[in-house]
Amino acid sequence: MDFHNLAFLSVLLLSALGCCAGQKQALKSSSLESLVGKNVTFSTTVDPETEKFVVVTWVFNSGSGPISIISSAVGVNLNDAYKDRVEFDRTSGSLVLRDVTTSDTGDYSLSLVQEDGAQIPGETRLTVYEPISDVLVKANVTDPVEFNDTVSLTCTASGTDPAFSWMSGSDPITATDHLLLSEDKSQLTIASILRSDKGPFTCAVSNPLSKASSSPLSFNISYGPETAVMTASPPKKVHRTGSNITLSCSAESVPPAEFEWLLNGESLEKTGPVLKLEDLQVDQSGDYSCLASNPKTMRFLASDVTKIMLLEQISGVEVTGPTVALIAGNSTANISCQAAKGVITTTEWLKDGNPLSRSDRATISADKSSVAISPVEKDDSGVYKCMLTNDVSTDSASYTMTVNYGPENVDIKGVKEVKVGEKMELICSASSVPPATYSWTINGTQKDVTTPMYTMDKTAYHNSGNYECVATNSVTGKNATAVHKLEVVAEVGLSSGAIAGIVIGVLVAVALIAAIAHCMMKKPKVTESPY
Ligand SMILES: *[C@@H]1O[C@H](CO)[C@@H](O)[C@H](O)[C@H]1NC(C)=O
Ligand SMILES: *[C@@H]1O[C@H](CO)[C@@H](O)[C@H](O)[C@H]1NC(C)=O
Ligand SMILES: *[C@@H]1O[C@H](CO)[C@@H](O)[C@H](O)[C@H]1NC(C)=O
Ligand SMILES: *[C@@H]1O[C@H](CO)[C@@H](O)[C@H](O)[C@H]1NC(C)=O
Ligand SMILES: *[C@@H]1O[C@H](CO)[C@@H](O)[C@H](O)[C@H]1NC(C)=O
Ligand SMILES: *[C@@H]1O[C@H](CO)[C@@H](O)[C@H](O)[C@H]1NC(C)=O
Ligand SMILES: *[C@@H]1O[C@H](CO)[C@@H](O)[C@H](O)[C@H]1NC(C)=O
Ligand SMILES: *[C@@H]1O[C@H](CO)[C@@H](O)[C@H](O)[C@H]1NC(C)=O
Ligand SMILES: *[C@@H]1O[C@H](CO)[C@@H](O)[C@H](O)[C@H]1NC(C)=O
Repeated sequence: MDFHNLAFLSVLLLSALGCCAGQKQALKSSSLESLVGKNVTFSTTVDPETEKFVVVTWVFNSGSGPISIISSAVGVNLNDAYKDRVEFDRTSGSLVLRDVTTSDTGDYSLSLVQEDGAQIPGETRLTVYEPISDVLVKANVTDPVEFNDTVSLTCTASGTDPAFSWMSGSDPITATDHLLLSEDKSQLTIASILRSDKGPFTCAVSNPLSKASSSPLSFNISYGPETAVMTASPPKKVHRTGSNITLSCSAESVPPAEFEWLLNGESLEKTGPVLKLEDLQVDQSGDYSCLASNPKTMRFLASDVTKIMLLEQISGVEVTGPTVALIAGNSTANISCQAAKGVITTTEWLKDGNPLSRSDRATISADKSSVAISPVEKDDSGVYKCMLTNDVSTDSASYTMTVNYGPENVDIKGVKEVKVGEKMELICSASSVPPATYSWTINGTQKDVTTPMYTMDKTAYHNSGNYECVATNSVTGKNATAVHKLEVVAEVGLSSGAIAGIVIGVLVAVALIAAIAHCMMKKPKVTESPY
């Protein structure tokens, strides 16, 4: 046992005495904190001018027993371990400990013994902190899948007494059912991670004298697909064959969804967000849908089904009708309408541009493909148009029907009386299809005239008579007549009765004159009558 230890023991004894006396404290603060590498000053409360000490002793106790740092009585006894690290003020008793390390953490006691043997004790605790550094956050899952993964974030740091806390962005995290913190808060567990948990997460670590944060950690959280939506362009439901349709599919998904195309639930072996369908045919009608899948989340989602119908355009419409000549009141007609291609949804019949109505004679078949008219009448002549429609097209064709009829309403136009010597003109007309041919008889005698007009440049009295026009229809084989009574009258414009009277009078007079002359001259001479 050297002197050093002896002195130390004596201090222990003295301090035991001093402590019981309940005197003032020799040290200014009862606790000190410092970072590694700093100089720590233990200042005393004494006044060196008035107080003189025979023994000054510093003892350190890290918890594993007291160690004397320095003791000064007659000489100064410095512990080798503190050589070059301490500055000691003998008069005030204060101590500077340079370049402290964590092993300097512990209790420091100072004992000041006065000349009269009285002792002033001092106790303080020094805590030396290693500064916080190397803060690191590690996640046990790098590419988490929403709902599937529970992710643990572990924070590590160098430094003394680290205290952990967490931030999401700039918001501090407090523990919830979803965000769990370990007891020491160094571990953050995100239960069933959500897409909103992307972070960035930072771990903040501190001790009383320093702090540091990790670099931010963000997650690429895979999720979806959700809300798979399919659109068709053009968006209509029914398309004509040969059409092109573009189908597009989208879904909310990270990473972007992959798409597969289905027709009536069967894969079309086509992938990608856009499906171009070209030159579509009837058998490609059906329920189209897309299936979105996410390779990361291994989830699938089908879109709603879009019905697409393909219809052949109507073409090659033909209307057929009777090919033989039709005769009013006798023939029947069947007009029918067919299309070479296309499914027909509606059939419409028009006659001369107006909707064809049923009548006693006209019957439209139940499927509207034909119209039967029995018997045909002259009013049935006209243009019959058949219009066929489906959702993608309209086509039509026409048939012109001619109903032969007549002659009817034979009529002769002309004057009833004509002055002798004047021109005469009679015109015969008849309603007939085809147009009638005409012939004339006068007083029942067939004339050599076959025109509807009968003319005479200069009439004579004997041209009076019953003029009959016979109109004949070569197709119907019918004929009809009209009679016109014509009278050729004297120029004076007298009535035929007056003329007759005059004629008779003249004849009588002539006869008388002739008789007289005959009797008187015996050589009669008769004047020829113009009549
Ligand atoms: C500690 O004290 C020494 C000597 O007085 C000085 O050289 C050094 O810079 C000080 N260190 C600090 C961290 O203040
Ligand atoms: C990550 O840590 C959490 C919590 O400890 C655990 O439930 C999960 O299974 C871990 N995940 C992996 C991929 O190790
Ligand atoms: C997320 O993913 C993208 C692309 O896949 C990648 O560039 C990025 O680094 C990822 N970010 C994280 C935090 O993993
Ligand atoms: C469909 O697409 C093809 C190729 O792009 C094009 O040649 C054709 O004209 C398109 N058909 C229609 C009806 O647009
Ligand atoms: C995630 O969970 C869903 C539903 O439980 C499952 O279908 C899917 O396969 C899981 N994904 C992964 C990547 O394990
Ligand atoms: C109708 O036509 C038939 C033959 O086509 C004929 O035998 C018949 O006499 C005609 N009837 C009438 C009223 O024209
Ligand atoms: C008209 O003709 C069509 C085809 O020749 C036939 O199917 C239809 O039954 C006929 N209609 C009538 C009323 O005779
Ligand atoms: C027709 O008969 C009438 C009376 O019978 C006669 O006066 C007239 O001359 C006759 N006309 C012709 C053209 O024969
Ligand atoms: C007119 O028709 C009747 C019977 O239909 C026939 O006897 C007569 O010869 C026809 N007359 C002419 C001028 O064709």
